[in-house]
Amino acid sequence: MTRRENRAVARAGSNIALVKYWGKRNRELNLPQSSSFSLTLSELYSTAQVSPSPEDRDIWEVQGNPSKAQKLLRAARQFTGDNTPLHIKIENNFPTAAGLASSASSMASFALALQKFWSDRNIPFDEVVRWARLASGSSVRSLFDGYVLWQVGKSDDGSDDTVRRLFPRSYFNLSMLACVVDDRPKKFGSTEAMEISRRTSPLYWEFHRRIPSDLEKAIRAVESRDLYLLAQVAEENCLMMHRVMETSDPPVVFLQPLSHRIMELVRFLRNKGGIPCFFTVDAGPNVKIFTPPDYLEKVLRECEKISELKDILIDRG
Ligand code: PMV
Repeated sequence: MTRRENRAVARAGSNIALVKYWGKRNRELNLPQSSSFSLTLSELYSTAQVSPSPEDRDIWEVQGNPSKAQKLLRAARQFTGDNTPLHIKIENNFPTAAGLASSASSMASFALALQKFWSDRNIPFDEVVRWARLASGSSVRSLFDGYVLWQVGKSDDGSDDTVRRLFPRSYFNLSMLACVVDDRPKKFGSTEAMEISRRTSPLYWEFHRRIPSDLEKAIRAVESRDLYLLAQVAEENCLMMHRVMETSDPPVVFLQPLSHRIMELVRFLRNKGGIPCFFTVDAGPNVKIFTPPDYLEKVLRECEKISELKDILIDRG
């Protein structure tokens, strides 16, 4: 039995951007317009398994549409030249519809599992990053633990774009609560919504103009463990992204009245309640709250009072 006949398993955490990726400079290569900065979670993750298929075709056991994973596999096969039919199983340990970045963690775990499956080929890590990026841009940040910077370079082909961990999560440990406002499928996919924003929003370039300063502040905030500075920059950056979406034509509106209520509660807890916490929201209505682990129970009790919430997912850190 050769090594490649073995089953390869890899795991990757979901990641939440503190400075968001919203727009592509090259849609085909899936290259971001600007850099982004995120925290990879540890308790909400995806696991991918790759083994040889018992049939003469690929077998997919994935939640939802396998098209992103198929794109990733095509890129990996082009690189290795190995077209052996595979059995691919990808699972998330959290509900896919919860508005967490399930495609990010699932595509990162799949790219890592393929690298392990072909471990005899010494596949460079940059290549694994490229496979993951082609399937889901933000998945490249899930290839690392902790606070991760996905930095754009100067070249048009993305060859000097980099992704790396700047700090382990333990350096500035924050717990995360995801308040599930709505668990129905999203109205817009992020690629489509980014394109609408790029073509039509009067605020699109202003959002990107602010990124270098947002990044500098967010990285400085983590480095100095300054939750209030991180709160200011992460909330502003996220609200600016939603303003870009909402000023697009057609408007891309993800925030719901309940999302606004939770954001208001977080501001109240921080400014009047003495609880260090802040929110961020991605391409959906669900609000993610960050707070130090010592305050998690207090924030959770406040969120549990909101009877309309569908669910609250927790990653203690
Ligand atoms: O990687 P995508 O195409 O799912 O886009 C992610 C976009 C946001 O989640 C809204 C922001 C981000 O940086 O994660």
